[in-house]
Amino acid sequence: MRNFIKVMAFSLLTIAAFAGYSNFGIPLINPAPPPEEEQLDLETMTMDRFVAIGERIFNGKGTCTLCHSAVGGRAPLLDTVATIANERLADERYEGEADTGEAYLFESMVDPSAYVVAGFGKTGTNDTKSPMPDIAGGSIGMSDAEIKAVIAYLQNLAGTEVTVEIPAGGGADASEESESKGGQAAAAEPVILADPEALISKHACGACHKVADQSGALGPDLTRVGAGRDETYLRRAILDPNADIAEGFQPNLMPGNYGEQLYAKELEVLVAYLAGLK
Ligand code: HEC
Ligand code: HEC
Repeated sequence: MRNFIKVMAFSLLTIAAFAGYSNFGIPLINPAPPPEEEQLDLETMTMDRFVAIGERIFNGKGTCTLCHSAVGGRAPLLDTVATIANERLADERYEGEADTGEAYLFESMVDPSAYVVAGFGKTGTNDTKSPMPDIAGGSIGMSDAEIKAVIAYLQNLAGTEVTVEIPAGGGADASEESESKGGQAAAAEPVILADPEALISKHACGACHKVADQSGALGPDLTRVGAGRDETYLRRAILDPNADIAEGFQPNLMPGNYGEQLYAKELEVLVAYLAGLK
């Protein structure tokens, strides 16, 4: 209870300082409706369904919209990427092995540095290294079938021919299990997580940060963040990322809505964990 009061006090102060943030409460409950349960029956799978699954993965488990969205400018928009994929292959900076647009999209997700969109490379690498994580690895861990569903979605989105084939049998893991990750989907019953690494995984902090065995590169390395930052700083860094900008990084990259997604207790668990990383 004391923590709760402390956090509320902090919250009120922050509201006073940032009057624009009218919804800046801390112990808010994730308002998203529970995901609809869905059976994935590959026998009767149609391309429309496969595209729809790809869209859900894109917005959910894949955490793609964390970076590929109209706000923040963290990554290029992907509305037309399926139509320009062939141009990427012809670009002299292309270093991958794909020979079709579809293969380019696949490669972009599992080996993002094979081609780095100009201006979006990791700071200091002159657009030779991508800050995008390998989405088949780490905490995102998409299967081949899930990646293919996302490609189907991107091809459909761009209005190009959908060339991916629905995987035979191997796609069962592109099912409702995909709904529970990525920080977008809410559980039917609110669950308060007490394990910091589970929180980091749920909210995909590792997509951008090196922390808890993950190696995101869009934001600062957090593996020793507690050596130089105290809890007050860390709490603010999570709730209002633009309040202080870590040296060498740009504003507006870190999502500003974690205050709406984390319970007060979860926030404190995260802050204490990060403060302990020395
Ligand atoms: C942590 C941020 C981040 C996440 C999460 C992320 N991406 Fe990216 N992505 C980027 C950045 C930055 C680039 C541009 C640099 C590059 O070309 O690799 C990029 C590039 C791409 C490209 C190539 C675009 C082009 O124009 O050639 C594709 C395709 C892509 N991402 C797909 C995805 C998909 C699908 C997901 C989710 C499964 C995803 N990304 C998740 C940051 C991210
Ligand atoms: C889309 C990428 C992205 C995601 C996701 C993300 N961050 Fe960040 N984060 C950044 C960037 C970029 C910065 C540096 C700019 C700044 O300070 O706001 C940053 C800064 C920080 C800092 C301040 C570090 C310092 O030394 O000043 C902390 C702490 C932090 N993030 C924690 C988190 C936590 C915890 C999560 C998950 C709940 C998270 N971040 C998710 C991109 C991200």
